[in-house]
Amino acid sequence: MLRTHTCGELRLSDINKEVTLSGWVQKTRDLGAMTFIDLRDRYGITQLALNLASGNEINDTVKTLGREFVIQVKGTVIERESKNKNNLTGDIEIKVTALKVLNISQTPPFTIEDNTDGGDELRMKYRYLDLRRNEVRKNLELRHRMAIETRNYLDSLQFLEVETPVLIKSTPEGARDFVVPSRMNEGQFYALPQSPQTFKQLLMVAGFDRYYQIVKCFRDEDLRADRQPEFTQIDCEMSFVDQQDILDTFEGLVRHLFKAVKQIDMPNVPHMTYADAMKYYGNDKPDTRFEMKFVELNEVVKGKNFKIFDDAELVVTICAKGAAEYTRKQLDELTEWVKRPQIGATGLVYARHNADGTIKSSVDKFYNEEELKTWSAACGSQPGDLILILAGPDEKTRKGMSELRLEMGARLGLRDKNKFSALWIIDFPLLEWNDGDPNLLASLAGRWHAKHHPFTSPKPEDFELLKTDPGAVRANAYDLVINGVEVGGGSIRIHDRALQSQMFDLLGFTKEEAQKQFGFLMNAFEFGAPPHGGLAFGFDRLCSLFGGSDSIRDFIAFPKNNSGRDVMIDSPSEISDEQLKELHILSTVTN
Ligand code: AMO
Repeated sequence: MLRTHTCGELRLSDINKEVTLSGWVQKTRDLGAMTFIDLRDRYGITQLALNLASGNEINDTVKTLGREFVIQVKGTVIERESKNKNNLTGDIEIKVTALKVLNISQTPPFTIEDNTDGGDELRMKYRYLDLRRNEVRKNLELRHRMAIETRNYLDSLQFLEVETPVLIKSTPEGARDFVVPSRMNEGQFYALPQSPQTFKQLLMVAGFDRYYQIVKCFRDEDLRADRQPEFTQIDCEMSFVDQQDILDTFEGLVRHLFKAVKQIDMPNVPHMTYADAMKYYGNDKPDTRFEMKFVELNEVVKGKNFKIFDDAELVVTICAKGAAEYTRKQLDELTEWVKRPQIGATGLVYARHNADGTIKSSVDKFYNEEELKTWSAACGSQPGDLILILAGPDEKTRKGMSELRLEMGARLGLRDKNKFSALWIIDFPLLEWNDGDPNLLASLAGRWHAKHHPFTSPKPEDFELLKTDPGAVRANAYDLVINGVEVGGGSIRIHDRALQSQMFDLLGFTKEEAQKQFGFLMNAFEFGAPPHGGLAFGFDRLCSLFGGSDSIRDFIAFPKNNSGRDVMIDSPSEISDEQLKELHILSTVTN
């Protein structure tokens, strides 16, 4: 080895040891008689002390050193005169006797420090340099620990990790597929899996009983901070279980991760129905670190000649604790905030519940103090609180209020990254009407779409509704939400050919299409498919949540940017005409 120790390892107990270290030059300080070099590797920084006064042979080499040069030094561990308590190796330094340059480096395009001067795009272009920074490296160390602990937990429960193929078959379901042309099969394409869903179900048919895989998935959809075109799932499936068994098993996994990785004892995870989540939070992934639940005011506010409320399908309020002192300027600014196109509210009505008990609203013309007290009673405001009201069409207003609630939570400091609040959302609708979702193929518009996926089973008590009112059918489907992030989701599956076939009918597939796309699964159901179900966690999201970041990119070694590009390797890129021809995409080679 080119070293005896790492740069994070040596302590006072190593004094007088002869050591060899290798690493990168973080910083050189020339103090005349003495030169100090901070030598860095993945494990830490060790100070090198070089006495150049006597003109020894290292002199010339040291003068050539620049930032990020890779060097090897030999020397003796000595106690430092001025110790650095912020550094684990800060009590010692190395009195260098030999120094060798292993490789030179150009000056890096940004500083390799915690607070770097490099912008996002530059850091992505030189991601290998960005990865040298503590913060980014720590994120990947956390990811590694999470993966190890996931495997430990699942292995202890007899789960088998099985790899499933990456070149599979395109299906017109879910998001758009990434496709790969087949050279050997002219005009035909593989698709990259959006998830290993059908394979894990086939593994259940095969009797594997408990499966998991930490696996790459690919989805060609619009990107956001919590979405990447390729991302990783902890994908799991179990046989002979009901919904509660699955929730218990995977709540156990999350609890294990919190304990092992963050030393946090997570309390039992409450269950909330989808219907309640929408009613109280306007959102199927509510951030429950804080209350601020919706209260509907239709009954309370209508009939006082205030047209906006009288005409509204929904009048809904939240009570922001302790915010009555918001200034007029702040409230005007908040009103502008809800009027932005992203929220689209026509305005914001507010009422201050003042410290002296009086209540003053922005619509005093229409509501007297007695009436305002009924608002206060409805939403439970106390002196010092601010009542915020939105009115308009039901769905849009709920969505807007959900955003306003999150914004107020953030402004009031209620969304602490070190606090974790988890809940299971259960009883999702089985289907949703696709009005033309831009993330789906246009040909799927104007028909029912499986809210989770087409393999999810309806609740037996709602079977009858499948024929009469499909939109009202609830599914045995669940999501795990932590701090307003959907970290995982799954369902109890259909394991009966006839029901699966009925489901494809509902989704608008002809019998032939269903057989062509999913015949392999439906056929398998005829060979003794056990009852089964499972879920998948978004591993990148789970890591970023544990790491206290909103962006999953920080927890992926080589992520893509918002246009789906890898700016480091410059991908996607064109391919040669020769390749295109071999793939039967170009019929002749052009010069
Ligand atoms: P679903 O589509 O809900 O379920 O995905 C499971 C979890 O994966 C994460 N996720 C993503 N993370 C990053 N970037 C993306 N583009 C992205 N898309 C999804 C989310 C999500 O909760 N086969 C089913 C699971 C099952 O039923 O067992 C599935 O894939 O955290």
